[in-house]
Amino acid sequence: MGKAAETNATAAAAAQASSRAPSFKLVGYDNFVRTNPRSDRFPVRRFHHVEFWCGDATNVARRFSWGLGMPILAKSDLSTGNSVHASYLLRSGHLRFLFTAPYSPSIATAASAAIPTFSHSSHSSFAASHGLGVRALAIEVEDAEFAFSTSVAHGARPSSPPIHLDNQAVIAEVHLYGDVVLRYVSYKNSPHSDLFLPGFESVDTTSSFPNLDFGIRRLDHAVGNVHELAPAIDYIKQFTGFHDFAEFTAEDVGTSESGLNSMVLASNDEMVLLPLNEPVYGTKRKSQIQTYLEHNAGAGVQHLALVSEDIFRTLREMRQRSGVGGFEFMPSPPSTYYKNLKNRAGDVLSDEQIKECEELGILVDRDDQGTLLQIFTKPLGDRPTIFIEIIQRIGCMLKDDEGKIYQKGGCGGFGKGNFSELFKSIEEYEKTLEARRIAEPAGA
Ligand SMILES: [Fe+2]
Repeated sequence: MGKAAETNATAAAAAQASSRAPSFKLVGYDNFVRTNPRSDRFPVRRFHHVEFWCGDATNVARRFSWGLGMPILAKSDLSTGNSVHASYLLRSGHLRFLFTAPYSPSIATAASAAIPTFSHSSHSSFAASHGLGVRALAIEVEDAEFAFSTSVAHGARPSSPPIHLDNQAVIAEVHLYGDVVLRYVSYKNSPHSDLFLPGFESVDTTSSFPNLDFGIRRLDHAVGNVHELAPAIDYIKQFTGFHDFAEFTAEDVGTSESGLNSMVLASNDEMVLLPLNEPVYGTKRKSQIQTYLEHNAGAGVQHLALVSEDIFRTLREMRQRSGVGGFEFMPSPPSTYYKNLKNRAGDVLSDEQIKECEELGILVDRDDQGTLLQIFTKPLGDRPTIFIEIIQRIGCMLKDDEGKIYQKGGCGGFGKGNFSELFKSIEEYEKTLEARRIAEPAGA
């Protein structure tokens, strides 16, 4: 290689390295200035669905249906002529969960798959590595082919090229983090009806589950845990054009309480929110993100935050089913947390509502714009990995161009304040126990 060519090659390598170097530094919550450059690289509509890969879709779908109040609305399985995979679609409002499991490869006819990106080999390594988990986060875009080609041109690693489904819809996939893909879905004719995807047939739920609905309406955010935040954020930002929406570092909330750094990416209208977490090491307590990464054998979806239109109703319904096949919740905070809550949110929540929060174990946080009510389930499956968050956001009501009222995305934040608030209330509670022990000498 000549000298000039060598210099050029070195310069190119340096340029490539610098384009790969993290383009941001975490500045912490207080120094973070929120702006919306509306920098999406392709038109994004909404979260479309979340696909879980399981060993047996019938059982997992029914458990989620019962636990979350989401009827099973559509299916693609042997009964509809699909010999590759069994898939069941649950829906509540705009939230769609899809549960997929493989049939025996020996009977599979590839052309019969409703989700043609399904692969037996990917599924079997996914299931062996991760157990139950999210395979695909799907977003509806204006044009899945354009979203895919633009993403790949900006560094996305392709997982499946665009595939036309029955001349009605297109799906394409790129790698997101770990073994999770970002799936683009677009429809040929807009506005589309109740069609999910071609190849799915409706399930009649009216006789078996009349009015099954706990008030869950849509997916608010889907959080990923990764080993290293900077390269993961850079990668996703680069190919989606999504912008920084919020962040906090371990220092913001006290290292031993959180053990994580976090950053949120948002689409133009801030309705597709993708937070990412990385573990922080050397803390008193082991980082919960590190625990996840070990049990999940790598990066993956940590939690899905589901918006309820009435969190009290949703929680009452879900808690009734906790011990009989539904989902269990993390332990409720001590009463000291709710005593302090009147000072923190007494202007937004009535005394009755604060009492209801305490009865149901709901946490409350706020940011400069609104208030967030939140609660976390225990892990959904065998491993301490993926869980669900139920939320309701209060405030930030805006009018669109047509005068329709809507709520601004991410209103009230993501619950950052609860790390320190929970820690404080547990400390206060422990002090009350201490005081009791002093007042009641041993043996009394
Ligand atoms: Fe969350």
